[in-house]
Amino acid sequence: MIRYSNLYLENKIILNKILNQVKKSIKTSKFILKDDVSIFEKNICKYLKIKYCVGLNSGTDALLMSLSQLNLKKGSEIITTPLTYVATISAILHVGAKPVFVDVGEDFNIDVSQIEKKITKNTKCILPVHLFGRCCDMNKIDQLAKKYNLSVIEDSAQSFGSKIKGKFSGTFGDIGCFSLHPMKTLNVLGDGGFIVTNNKKYANKIRTLRDHGRLKKKDKSLYLHYGFNSRLDNIQAAIANIKLKNINYLIKRRIENAALYKKFLSKEKKIKISFLNNKFKYYDSYNSFVILSKNKKKIIHKLKNNNVEVLQNLTQCITLEKHLFSDKKIRMKNAENFYKNSIYLPINPFLKKKEIKFICNLIISSINE
Ligand SMILES: Cc1ncc(COP(=O)(O)O)c(C=O)c1O
Repeated sequence: MIRYSNLYLENKIILNKILNQVKKSIKTSKFILKDDVSIFEKNICKYLKIKYCVGLNSGTDALLMSLSQLNLKKGSEIITTPLTYVATISAILHVGAKPVFVDVGEDFNIDVSQIEKKITKNTKCILPVHLFGRCCDMNKIDQLAKKYNLSVIEDSAQSFGSKIKGKFSGTFGDIGCFSLHPMKTLNVLGDGGFIVTNNKKYANKIRTLRDHGRLKKKDKSLYLHYGFNSRLDNIQAAIANIKLKNINYLIKRRIENAALYKKFLSKEKKIKISFLNNKFKYYDSYNSFVILSKNKKKIIHKLKNNNVEVLQNLTQCITLEKHLFSDKKIRMKNAENFYKNSIYLPINPFLKKKEIKFICNLIISSINE
């Protein structure tokens, strides 16, 4: 079986370190907001070259807490993509704002050339989602945000380690939101997430919000405002610290795998491949590797019959979610087309060259049958 994500192997190589860490936590009984969380936050700041990081319990809460900082009113609009995990949209709705959708472009990310015409007097924020490990065009988004005085909250859940000219995903806007879910490039053994920012006010507020509004001063707790329980577990933070040590290698392996897929598949006219074009020389971390084909059913059938695990619909197209989206007049042609024709191929760091070749041969033979 060729697995989609090989978490078993990823965790096996560091299993002793993980078990020792769990033993240490049990021995010291340190579970909630202890040193491992603050060490994790410092490690992330160093890695992403940013001033503040706050560990949270999920990427969803990272989005919610970040959006809650924007002084939104009823009717406030947030410009985003229809092609994302549903959490991006639910976070916007849960803070009482209205998502305004801009279709995706060539690279499956928000088409920045279409944003300006959607800006109104109610627009408060642009929320780019860096899908599959490719950054959105942050230069253009930054220009628009400055011109119209908008906030930028980045959904970087799928793009840990991605860069534009050396600057990391999540560090362009006012706040960057990350997930540590097991399917993410940097992941833990359960749920987790964090925000990063250079804004001290946002960092301090989210730090207290995650812990019921509590500010700890020596032995005293001051409750500054009402908050939530959205703390990153101490054990998960410790595991993330172990995993961060290998992250550059794991990303490098994903990039090498993507290069092999491109080599073997790029001549096939009947499929479209993730990030074949990289005209701005973005550093893509390949959280997913996606191909698009009208022959999707045939390809999936062939791969599954040959024990290759592939996924579909990992990302939603919100305008096609009939229980969530009822405005039939809004059509997002590119995002909908992507949703219907996309196949997520295995891209995990432990794939072998011969496995990728095998997968590509199956794809090529199934579309030419
Ligand atoms: C683009 C995107 N945003 C937000 C999330 C939510 O992250 P989490 O599952 O950690 O809440 C995810 C992860 O599934 C995601 O892929």
